[in-house]
Amino acid sequence: MSHGVHALNAICPYYTMYPLDFPLRVLNKYGKRGDWVIDPFCGRGTTNFAARLLEMPSMGVDSSPVAAALAQAKLSTAAPSGVVASARAILKAAKEPTALPTGAFWRLAYHEHTLVQLCQLREALLAECSSPTRILLRAIVLGALHGPRPQGAASHFSNQSPRTFAPKPKYAVKFWTARAMRPVDVDVLSIIKTRADRYLAEPPPNVEGSVRLGDSRVADTFADMPKARFVVTSPPYFGMRTYLPDQWLRLWFLGGPDYVEYRQPKEQLEHSGADHFAAEMGRVWKNVADHTTETARLIIRYGGIHDRDAEPMDVLKKSLVDSGWKMKTAKAVPDSDAARRQVIQFGAKPKKAITEHDVYCYRA
Ligand SMILES: C[S@@+](CC[C@H](N)C(=O)[O-])C[C@H]1O[C@@H](n2cnc3c(N)ncnc32)[C@H](O)[C@@H]1O
Repeated sequence: MSHGVHALNAICPYYTMYPLDFPLRVLNKYGKRGDWVIDPFCGRGTTNFAARLLEMPSMGVDSSPVAAALAQAKLSTAAPSGVVASARAILKAAKEPTALPTGAFWRLAYHEHTLVQLCQLREALLAECSSPTRILLRAIVLGALHGPRPQGAASHFSNQSPRTFAPKPKYAVKFWTARAMRPVDVDVLSIIKTRADRYLAEPPPNVEGSVRLGDSRVADTFADMPKARFVVTSPPYFGMRTYLPDQWLRLWFLGGPDYVEYRQPKEQLEHSGADHFAAEMGRVWKNVADHTTETARLIIRYGGIHDRDAEPMDVLKKSLVDSGWKMKTAKAVPDSDAARRQVIQFGAKPKKAITEHDVYCYRA
C-alpha cells in the first residue's frame, strides 16, 4: 500500500503496470525539472505520475479507454471532499438509469441498489467528465468496481471478485452459486469517501500535461505535442492479447458493452507474427522520434514469454531498425515481478521462463 504523495498512483490496478520506481529512477537520474516526457503506451500512467512527482510535464497515449481514464487521473488534482460531493450530487439528481444490465452475472455481481447507483454514476460520467473532480471520481469508481470482500466494511462494490482483472461471467456465476455468495448492499458513497481520503489526501505538485486516447502507430495522434526529452515506456509484450477482455467490467463503466468483447479492436498492436509486431512497434518509435529533441533518450522496459519463434529482445531490436533511435544498452531487470504478473494473467504457468530488459536508446 502506498502512502502520502505516492498514494494516487494506486487509485486503480492495471495489470500490465510497471512499478513506479522504474520511471522515477530513470527520470530522476537523467532528467531535470521542466523536461517534457512522453509515454506512447502509457497504461495506467505510471510514467506520467513519476514525471509529475519530479515536476516534469508529460504526455501519455493509450488506445485502451481504461488506461486513458486512469492516466488522466494521475495528472489531476481535486480535494477528497469535492470528489465525494460530486458523487453525492450525481446520485441525488439522478433518475432511473436508462440502461440497466440484466442476467445472472449482473444479479450476482452487484446488489440491485448498488447496480442502480453504479449505472447512475456511469451515465452522468459518460455525459460529462472533463473536470479534475470528475476524472478522479471516475478513476476511484473504476478502482472499486470489483475486488475481494473483506471481513469488515466493504472496499469494493462487487461480490467476491479478483481486483486486477474482471471476473469472467460464466466462471463467476458458477463460483458465486456454488458458495451461495450473494452481493452485499454496500454503501457506495462511503466506499468512495474512504478511497478519496486514501488516494487524494496529499496531492503531488500540479504539473502541465495531458493524456490522449489514441493509436500510437498513427502519426496524427502526436500532433501538436511539445518536443520531449524523454520517452519512458513499456509496449505490450509480444503474445499478450488479453488487455481488453480482462478489463471488460471497467470498459463497461466507460461506455462499453455489458458483456465480454473478445474481438481485438484495431487500435491495439497486432500480434499476428513477430515481424509484423516489430514493424507495428517500429511505427510508434518513429512517431515519438519526430516529437523529441535531438538529445532525447528512449527508455523501454520490454519482455515476454520465451517463444520458439520469437525471443522478446529480438522482436524489440528489430522494431528499432530505421526507427530514428539507436540502441545503446540493454540491462536485464533483476526481479521480473511485473513480467511474472503479466504471464500469470496471460494464463501461462508463473514459472515459465521470462525475462525483462531495460533498453536505453539515443536519437539516431
Ligand atoms: C505494458 S502496457 C503499459 C503499462 C504502463 N507502463 C503502466 O505502468 O501502466 C502496454 C499498453 O499499450 C497499450 N497499447 C496497445 N496498442 C497500442 C497502440 N496501438 N497505441 C497506444 N497504446 C497501445 C495497451 O492498451 C496497454 O495499456
